[in-house]
Amino acid sequence: MVKICCIGAGYVGGPTMAVIALKCPSFEVVVVDISVSRIAAWNSDQLPIYEPGLDEVVKQCRGKNLFFSTDIEKQVSEADIIFVSVNTPTKTQGLGAGKAADLTYWESAARMIADVSKSNKIVVEKSTVPVKTAEAIEKILTHNGRGIKYQILSNPEFLAEGTAIQDLFHPDRVLIGGRETPDGQKAIQSLKDVYAHWVPEDRIISTNLWSAELSKLAANAFLAQRISSVNAMSALCEATGADVSQVSHAVGKDTRIGPKFLNASVGFGGSCFQKDILNLVYICECNGLPEVANYWKQVIKINDYQKKRFVNRLVSSMFNTVSGKKISILGFAFKKDTGDTRETPAIDVCKGLLGDKAHLCIYDPQVTEDQIRRDLSMNKFDLDHPVHLQPMSPSSVKQVSVVWDAYEAAKDAHGVCILTEWDEFKTLDYQRIFDNMQKPAFVFDGRNIVNVDKLREIGFIVYSIGKPL
Ligand code: NAD
Ligand code: UGA
Repeated sequence: MVKICCIGAGYVGGPTMAVIALKCPSFEVVVVDISVSRIAAWNSDQLPIYEPGLDEVVKQCRGKNLFFSTDIEKQVSEADIIFVSVNTPTKTQGLGAGKAADLTYWESAARMIADVSKSNKIVVEKSTVPVKTAEAIEKILTHNGRGIKYQILSNPEFLAEGTAIQDLFHPDRVLIGGRETPDGQKAIQSLKDVYAHWVPEDRIISTNLWSAELSKLAANAFLAQRISSVNAMSALCEATGADVSQVSHAVGKDTRIGPKFLNASVGFGGSCFQKDILNLVYICECNGLPEVANYWKQVIKINDYQKKRFVNRLVSSMFNTVSGKKISILGFAFKKDTGDTRETPAIDVCKGLLGDKAHLCIYDPQVTEDQIRRDLSMNKFDLDHPVHLQPMSPSSVKQVSVVWDAYEAAKDAHGVCILTEWDEFKTLDYQRIFDNMQKPAFVFDGRNIVNVDKLREIGFIVYSIGKPL
C-alpha cells in the first residue's frame, strides 16, 4: 500500500489530501501538523476551515484511509511520498523583510524529514516557494549524510478558496516538476500515478523543477494583474461616466482575453496574491532585474490604491467626515464561501474608517468576532506567523461591534458598506434596511452585487465601484 503523509493541515493540505484519499482508496493518507488544536478540529465534526463540499469528502474517508495526526515523526518516517504544505508567509524581519518568503517552517519540516527518515522518500513541494527552493531543500535533506535518497518534486497547488473541492476534482492542470535524471523522471511518474486516479492524462503536465516553482508565482501574478487592470479601469470609469461592468463585458468577449476574473472590486485579498507577487519582486531584484520587479510591484500598488480610493470616496461623499457615524460593514472574509480573512481588503477599509473615527458594526456569516478583532489589531504581514497579538487601543475596541445579522448591523447606520460578495447580500430586504437607517442613507458596494437602480428607487444614495453616480 502506498503511504502518503502531508505536513501541514491547512487550507491546502487538508482539502488536497482529503480528495487524494477519496480518489485513491487503496492509498493511506495521513495529514500531520504541529498545531494540536487544528488536528483536533480535523478529527471533529467542526472542521477547522469552511469550504463547500469539504465535510462530505472528509466524512467519507476519515478513519478509513484518511487520518489526521500530531504524531509527525512516526508518520513521516513510514511514508513513501511526503507532501510539504506548510505556510510560507512574507518575512517580517531581517534580509528581505516585507518581500521575501519566510521559509522557516519549510526548513524545519525538511530538517525533521532528514532526521527521522529510514527509507528513500519522494518529497513534494506543495507550498508556494521561491524558484530554486528545491535546491536548498535538497541540501538540507541530505545534510546528515545517512545515505537515504530523496527525490524532490515541485507540485504547486492552484485551488482557490471557496471552490477548493471543485477545483481539486476538476483541475485545469496538475503541474509536476522534477529533476531531468532517470530517478527524477521515475519520481514524477509515481506522483503522476496518484493524480491519474481522477485527472485526465493530458491535464497532468511535467516540467523541470525551476519551471514548476516559477509557474506558480507567475500564475498568481497574472491573475492578480487582471484584477488590478480592471480596478485601474474602474477609477477611470468613475471619472468619465463609463460603467466598468460594461467595459469588462465588452473586453472579456475577446476570446484572447476571456470573461473570467474581470470583476472590479474594492481590491483583491487572500493569503497568496500579495505575498507571492512580493516574493516574485524580491527574486527579480536579487537577480538584477529592477525593471521586471517594478512592473510587478505596480499590481500591488494599484491594489493598495483601490482600497484607499474606496475609503476616500466613502468619507468624502458623507460630507467629508464619518466621525461618530455608524457604518455597517457587510462581509469581512476576503471572498465569499470562505471564513478566511487573511489580507482581506476589509481590514484596510475598516482601519481607514476607524482612522476617521467611524463606529463600525460588522457582520460576516463565517467570521467570528474574535477573528475580526484580532485582524484589526494586527500589523501587516503578521498573518500566518505565530500570533503575537497586540492589544487594540481601547478607543478602537469601543468603535467596533460585531453582530450575527445583516439587519442588526445596518440598524441606525448612516452607511452600509459591502465588502464581501456573499450571495445573501444580494437578496436582503433593502427597503427594511433603508427604513431603519439614518438619512440620507448611503450604500457603498465594494463588490458590485446590488441592483443600483432598485436601491436608488428606494431612496439610497448608491456608490458602486467603477459606476456612474
Ligand atoms: P495554512 O497556514 O492554512 O496551513 C499551514 C499549516 O502548516 C499550519 O496548520 C501550520 O501549523 C502547519 N505547519 C507549519 N510548520 C509546520 C511543521 N514544521 N510541521 C508541521 N506542521 C507545520 O496555509 P495554507 O493556506 O494551507 O497554505 C500552505 C501553502 O500553500 C502556502 O505556501 C501557500 O502559499 C500555498 N497555497 C495556498 C492556497 C490557499 O488557497 N490557501 C492555494 C495554493 C497554494
Ligand atoms: C488564488 C488563485 O485563484 C488560486 O489559483 C491560487 O491557488 C491561490 O490564489 C493561492 O495560491 O493561494 P484565492 O486567493 O483563494 O485563489 O481566491 P481568488 O478567487 O483568486 O480571489 C482572490 C481575491 O481576488 C479575492 O479577494 C477576490 O474577491 C478577488 N477577485 C477575484 C476580484 O476582486 N475580482 C475578480 O474578478 C476575481
